[in-house]
Amino acid sequence: MKSTLLPRGLLALTTLTLQASATFLYAASYSGDVTTLNLTLAEPTPSRARCNGATKPPANGTLVEVSSTNGCAGSPAWLELDYDNALLYCSDEGLTKATGSMSSFRTTDDGELILLNKINTKQGPVSSVLYGKGGLAVAHYAGSMLNLINVTDPESLTPFQNLTFTLDGPGPNKGRQDAPHPHQTVLDPTGKFILVPDLGADLVRVFAISDEDGLTVTAGEPLVAAAGSGPRHISFAEKKDGSFVMYLISELSNTITAYNVVYGEEEGEEGISFEEVFVIPTHGEGEEVPKTAGAAEILVSPDGKFLTISSRMEDAFTIPNPTPSEDDEDSPAEIPSDTLVTFSIDSSSGALTLVQKAPAGGRGPRQFTINKEGTLVAVALQADSRVAVIGRDVKTGELGGVIAAAVVKGGVTAVIFDE
Ligand SMILES: *[C@@H]1O[C@H](CO)[C@@H](O)[C@H](O)[C@H]1NC(C)=O
Ligand SMILES: *[C@@H]1O[C@H](CO)[C@@H](O)[C@H](O)[C@H]1NC(C)=O
Ligand SMILES: *[C@@H]1O[C@H](CO)[C@@H](O)[C@H](O)[C@H]1NC(C)=O
Ligand SMILES: *[C@@H]1O[C@H](CO)[C@@H](O)[C@H](O)[C@H]1NC(C)=O
Repeated sequence: MKSTLLPRGLLALTTLTLQASATFLYAASYSGDVTTLNLTLAEPTPSRARCNGATKPPANGTLVEVSSTNGCAGSPAWLELDYDNALLYCSDEGLTKATGSMSSFRTTDDGELILLNKINTKQGPVSSVLYGKGGLAVAHYAGSMLNLINVTDPESLTPFQNLTFTLDGPGPNKGRQDAPHPHQTVLDPTGKFILVPDLGADLVRVFAISDEDGLTVTAGEPLVAAAGSGPRHISFAEKKDGSFVMYLISELSNTITAYNVVYGEEEGEEGISFEEVFVIPTHGEGEEVPKTAGAAEILVSPDGKFLTISSRMEDAFTIPNPTPSEDDEDSPAEIPSDTLVTFSIDSSSGALTLVQKAPAGGRGPRQFTINKEGTLVAVALQADSRVAVIGRDVKTGELGGVIAAAVVKGGVTAVIFDE
């Protein structure tokens, strides 16, 4: 149980004995809405399965809309949850107007999202991450900008620093690399640096967070990626020796590049740098990626043992329609599906071994989230206006079928678990 009034940290003590019967998911869509979905799983629940030593996900469940808000309209593109404080941040890409916007919401027991504040920003915020002492770092794809917002008071979002990037000329892919296009903001494993894959500039930009105020940042030496590769998203895994490997997925080249993360001092300042280890196609070493494919999301599993990526515009599978319409006779029994590719991670070298290519639950898996237990994958299927929840075997890393799904109108851009 949550409360509309108290942060969750305070509530945890009083609700310890209550068992959660269902889980909320939040989905962002270009319809303008952020939708709360109620996921109910058939027995055994994942937590019970784990107690019994089993790692298999439940076979089925339901995903039902319980609430929606247009507080992040016009073009919700990304969600960032501050679970402990019952806060949700949403970025509006502003596809149909001259500006984007950022909104903050309070999450509640009944799934309703209460809008706290909304501010206009430069165009194209597509990803955000909480950092340091009350910071929210936002990547602006269309605006070629990193925007830093002070969210210490979530009812008063306060931009306090921004960095706008330029290119001397277009990159090799003239259509997509006309300008810098920051695509994500993500923290390094120490939480001391903000990393920003830039699809337009073929860079991963690096920013050190101030030790003093925990908010202002200083640009460091960026990581130069292959020309024309189009860096999109990154995820980290910890190796056996305690060091880290960074996996970069590049949309234009449909590749995964692995880097060893190196920390060191430079002129008294803490620094981060990267040593390239290998590059493989998004379908694995020696595997062919369909020519039409567009790589999107990359995530290391919570246990650090597996890596999963999503690849759009493949139509590689035919699957039972997860959201057939009873009212529509033309609703197909089967639909085409794009791909989620899973690799196991070698904990010594960081090497990736192909485990499985599985259906994503439909077309256009722009983003997906793995729950903390590792038993479920929620997929935002932009091209199908659907959210699909897929079962995941924690031991093998393999994905199963769709457990539950819901139609969410518009192009679904992001879905996260309320946990
Ligand atoms: C799950 O599957 C079982 C057996 O096929 C069925 O009886 C049950 O109604 C299903 N539950 C949901 C929530 O779909
Ligand atoms: C979510 O689903 C559970 C189980 O079906 C139900 O008990 C609960 O009331 C639902 N929550 C909302 C907000 O609809
Ligand atoms: C962030 O906002 C808080 C109040 O909301 C303020 O006390 C603090 O000084 C701000 N920090 C910066 C670096 O602007
Ligand atoms: C960027 O920051 C400057 C102050 O450093 C401010 O004047 C400007 O309005 C900001 N631009 C945007 C787009 O937020």
